[in-house]
Amino acid sequence: MNVPFYGHTRQYHNIKGEIDANIQKVLESGQYVMGPMLKQFEAELAAYTGKKHAIGVGNGTDAIWLTLMALGLKPGDEVITHANTFFATAEAIWIAGGKVVLVDCDGDTRCLDPKAVAAAVTPRTRAIVPVHLYGQCAPMREIRKIADQHKLIVIEDNAQAIGASGDGFRIGELSDAVTTSFIIQKNLGTFGDGGAIYTDNADVDARVRKLRNHGSSQRDHHSYGFNSRLDDIHAAILSAKLKHVTEWSDQRRKWAARYDAGLKDVATVTLPYQRPGYRHVYHLYEIETRNPADRNPLLAYLNGKGIDAKTHYSIAIHQQEGYPWGKAAEIRGSLANAEKNAASCISLPMFPELTAEEVDTVIDAVKSWKK
Ligand SMILES: Cc1ncc(COP(=O)(O)O)c(C=O)c1O
Repeated sequence: MNVPFYGHTRQYHNIKGEIDANIQKVLESGQYVMGPMLKQFEAELAAYTGKKHAIGVGNGTDAIWLTLMALGLKPGDEVITHANTFFATAEAIWIAGGKVVLVDCDGDTRCLDPKAVAAAVTPRTRAIVPVHLYGQCAPMREIRKIADQHKLIVIEDNAQAIGASGDGFRIGELSDAVTTSFIIQKNLGTFGDGGAIYTDNADVDARVRKLRNHGSSQRDHHSYGFNSRLDDIHAAILSAKLKHVTEWSDQRRKWAARYDAGLKDVATVTLPYQRPGYRHVYHLYEIETRNPADRNPLLAYLNGKGIDAKTHYSIAIHQQEGYPWGKAAEIRGSLANAEKNAASCISLPMFPELTAEEVDTVIDAVKSWKK
């Protein structure tokens, strides 16, 4: 049996009526950019996330740099993030004119390590960008404490964890703003590119709204800005999907529990670690081979059996060819955990529309390796 990595068309077919009806509504409205559907979705997203404002933008990368700009990042300001996130987190800091300061991740969760952050702060540090990697919320209480101590901005990169939470706190509760991506494969994804910012900060809301629309909040009146808006067709798709995202997260958690139970005795790999009291929403079910030398052979073995396993992300940012391309960047401290993560990670198929038979096929394949 082949097991795919994504279930995009399965998901579409399950709620086709709702998506099609919403798209039709936009097509018939004659308003496709900054129209009523975008407004409706922004209100729904704000309600879902518990924030006062939500602003739809072109993609999750733009969401980060637009927010950094809105918060007044100055050229050369240092922004701390970790080396084993998706490349876009660092890219966005560079686009906003910041200096990327890479620190290590935690050895268990692979999210930002607060101890590494605390050790990396200098008088030039302006912001911290924790990533809720793989669908698990970063240790926001510890990060907030450091930010308060040094008066730093915190922007949560939540491209991967919509619907996740910490132990007694929500995403967005302990930061200045949250950014997200709606690219196809995300837990809440459209059929293309999209992103959003959500925040309680009215200034960030007003500034991002202007920046995303050619520096304009009134026809023919402009200041410096960009074109980065969430199209109404994407808002329509996302509005239909948002109603299902909690149930989809629950289903991801069920498949994760099935993987956990099925793979717990496999000596060659470690399984994802969920912090006590945290709600992990498993954007990715990421295992690691205990021995990095096993990663590529195991990946090839799974792929050879028709299981579309992948890696996220097999080359850490600072290990990319040509890094840092003339941009301002610095590594502070050891990046040993991030490098281990890059060298040993494998993502098993994880999406709500998997079947129990498919999950069991993957479990059996991992168990049969090296037997
Ligand atoms: C952690 C993280 N940050 C940022 C992004 C960038 O989002 P986008 O691809 O929508 O620009 C992504 C996903 O692609 C991501 O996974």
